[in-house]
Amino acid sequence: MKIAIDGPASSGKSSIAKLLSKKLNFEYIDTGALYRAITYIIYKKHINIQDEKLITDIIKSSKFEFIDNKLYLNNKSIDVEIRKNIISQRVSEVAAQPFIRKLLNNVIRNISNHLKNIIIDGRDIGTVVLPNADLKIYLDASPKIRAYRRYLELIDKNESVILEKLEEEIIERDFIDTNREVDPLKKADDAIIIVTDDLNIRQVVDKIYDLLNNDL
Ligand code: CDP
Repeated sequence: MKIAIDGPASSGKSSIAKLLSKKLNFEYIDTGALYRAITYIIYKKHINIQDEKLITDIIKSSKFEFIDNKLYLNNKSIDVEIRKNIISQRVSEVAAQPFIRKLLNNVIRNISNHLKNIIIDGRDIGTVVLPNADLKIYLDASPKIRAYRRYLELIDKNESVILEKLEEEIIERDFIDTNREVDPLKKADDAIIIVTDDLNIRQVVDKIYDLLNNDL
């Protein structure tokens, strides 16, 4: 069984996918973490994002692994680094590069190919990565609520962020993700929308769990 979860920035995809994967005993692949990892490498090494040859070499020679839902790059956990707001501010520009999407889709395919029961979350999962998923969910919430959730998350990690600025950044990221030419953020025609403004994580997980048990 394959479950696709898409939605805009901070709509709760990864928290929900993590809990649901535990409840169902499914594997979980966080594709946003892969886009964040490439962004981290590009900025750490001061690489020009147009440098297709160098970025291709790096992606092809790197090992990406999810262990306990955390991303490891060449056997090193980079989970803390890739969640920093500086990476969030830059990731959408990187993810809009068609050659990077093609390479990462191969990485995602290699990780998921041999897995029978998986949840994958991202922006183009229901439309591109898993067009034949058994269940497609599109999570949404207002930018204000999403910014506030991300604010609490970053404050908890001792990052100093300003709520209003975070909201602007989230709106900008949504704009880039929705309007890029290749594989934009889009609800698949057969996806079920869940608006999470008034729902906590547990309630959303239960909703998806009920959908699985009642409808499939
Ligand atoms: O957790 P958050 O909602 O902030 O974002 P994420 O899922 O970690 O994804 C970070 C960024 O990666 C997104 O804003 C997209 O630009 C990009 N992304 C993408 O283009 N396609 C995917 N399948 C997943 C993420």
